[in-house]
Order: sequence, then C-alpha cells, then structure tokens
Amino acid sequence: MRGRFITLEGGEGAGKTTCLQRVQARLAAAGVRCLVTREPGGTPLGERIRGLLLDPAWHGMAPDCELLLMFAARAEHLDKVIRPALARGDWVLCDRFTDATYAYQGAGRGLPLEHIATLETLVQAGLQPDLTLLLDVPVATGLARAQGRSDPDRFEQEDRAFQERVRAAYLERAAACPDRFRVIDAGQPLPQVCTELDRVLDAYLAAQSRALES
Ligand code: TMP
Repeated sequence: MRGRFITLEGGEGAGKTTCLQRVQARLAAAGVRCLVTREPGGTPLGERIRGLLLDPAWHGMAPDCELLLMFAARAEHLDKVIRPALARGDWVLCDRFTDATYAYQGAGRGLPLEHIATLETLVQAGLQPDLTLLLDVPVATGLARAQGRSDPDRFEQEDRAFQERVRAAYLERAAACPDRFRVIDAGQPLPQVCTELDRVLDAYLAAQSRALES
C-alpha cells in the first residue's frame, strides 16, 4: 500500500517546528515509519534552491522566477524523496507543500492561480497530500512570535498585508477541501496546540486503521 502523505502548513510564527516534532513523535509512537522533510528543499539540489529563494539578497526577485524555483525544487523532491518513500509504503511528513505556493505566490505575490495549477499538474501529476494540518494564527500574534528571530528571510521580511493575504488564502483553501485539511488554532498557548494536534492525529490514525481492516 502506498504510504500516507501529510503536510504541515501555516503562516510566519505559527509554531511549525515544534508542531512538526510533535506530529513526528505521535506517528512514531503509533508504529508508523515516517520520513520527515521540507519545502522548499528536502534534497541537496532543493536545499540549494531554498538558499536562493530565502536569501534577502534576492529582494525583488521576479515573482515568476520565484514560482518556477518553488516548483523546480518540488519536482526534484518528488522524484528523489517523496514518491520513492510513498512507493515503499513509508509515510511522508512534509513541512509545507503546494498549498504554500497558492498562499505565498498566489495570494501573497498576486500570481494567477491558473499558472500555479498548470505547474501543479505538470509536476505532481495528480499527487496530493492525504492530510494537511494548517496551523492558523492571527498575523499579529505570529509576527510578534517571529520578531525575536535574527536575520529574517525574504518571506519573513514581507509586510503585514502580505501575511494577511497568505493567512486568508490558507483558510480559503482549507474551507474548500475540508476532507483533506484540519485547521488547528495555533494562536493558543503551545501545550493546547499540541493537545489539539494529538487529537486530530489520533482520529486520523484510527480512520486509517479502520480503512485497512475493511
Ligand atoms: P519555512 O519552511 O522556514 O517556513 O520557510 C519557507 C518559506 O518559503 C516560508 O516563508 C514560505 C515560503 N514558501 C513559499 O513561498 N512557497 C512555497 O511553495 C513554499 C513551499 C514555501
């Protein structure tokens, strides 16, 4: 059986790193063999592309260049890491995927959604995450959390209006695909966020084992 493909999404300061570790630990405790990876990145070449994408030196990069680099890294990631893992029956837990492209390049930069959809079809050939955990946090809360970080990257440097468009786009996508998305209130204190994550994952794991039995 093909493994399950889980993605984790959210705006700046949503607590993604801690939540990723929590999800990883929960899956391991349930005996699931899971590969953890990230986008942009996840392969040696993809990590080089990530370096270009996040580097503030490339402030003002053409939005289409940014979009194509995101999908270039994704094509390599799918080919070298994600598809082979799923084919082996491993689960894949990915820190961001194409929903981020719709949110950041689509809503954030204002690129036409049809262009993103065309690249998505080309690169993914129908592959979609089975489950997407969206860590939703009010922009002001997220930015306040992220403020202490040194050296903000090219996306962290974007203004509040950009981050608001990103958040709204994520929520819109979640509302449009309720079967795939679970929205987690990440504005709560971290222990509560973790409890909510555990509950969502346990329900998902239980549904998966029921599906296997039937
Ligand atoms: P992060 O993984 O540390 O959050 O940083 C990755 C940044 O890249 C984040 O600000 C969102 C951005 N990004 C996009 O703009 N489009 C994409 O498709 C992906 C995967 C990430």
